[in-house]
Amino acid sequence: MTTGNLRRAVCPGSFDPVTLGHVDIIGRASRLYDEVVVAVLINKSKSSLFTVDERMDMLTQVTAEYGNVRVDSFHGLLVHYCKANDIPVVVKGIRAVSDFDYELKMAQMNHGLTGLDTLFMPTNPEFSFLSSSLVKEIATWGGDVGRLVPAPVLERLSARLDERR
Ligand code: PNS
Repeated sequence: MTTGNLRRAVCPGSFDPVTLGHVDIIGRASRLYDEVVVAVLINKSKSSLFTVDERMDMLTQVTAEYGNVRVDSFHGLLVHYCKANDIPVVVKGIRAVSDFDYELKMAQMNHGLTGLDTLFMPTNPEFSFLSSSLVKEIATWGGDVGRLVPAPVLERLSARLDERR
């Protein structure tokens, strides 16, 4: 179901923090759909470097150039969030075959639960090795992540890691 004729999609994730790989997928999705909702999962059982509000702030900042992207958060099942918000499709970036295995299971499960569809978008090869976890690990040990995350994220990452040192 969509609201009127609006073609709406969701890009869900933890985004702790958002990387250039995420921004690439969100930007490409924004050209395919009328509205893209970037939905940050609230997961209290998983420790994170940034709060959900901080992650949403960074996402809002780095997707501001796309007029049809908005940022939200959700907890519980993605299918319930999508049903409540009239979103019929999930857009997911696939970096490698190793991503595909788990993503396919989630996509099939989501489709079986409520009919929610998933569109897999191959990531730009430039970012095929990129993940938020690796960014945090490299930055923690003083490695350069300047080409992996947007500039505002780089600043907040350095500040947060400094606080923790
Ligand atoms: O950035 P991540 O952590 O890889 O994103 C994973 C996410 C949030 C997209 C996925 O874990 C998810 O959709 N979680 C919500 C809970 C849910 O719906 N679980 C059932 C999946 S079939």
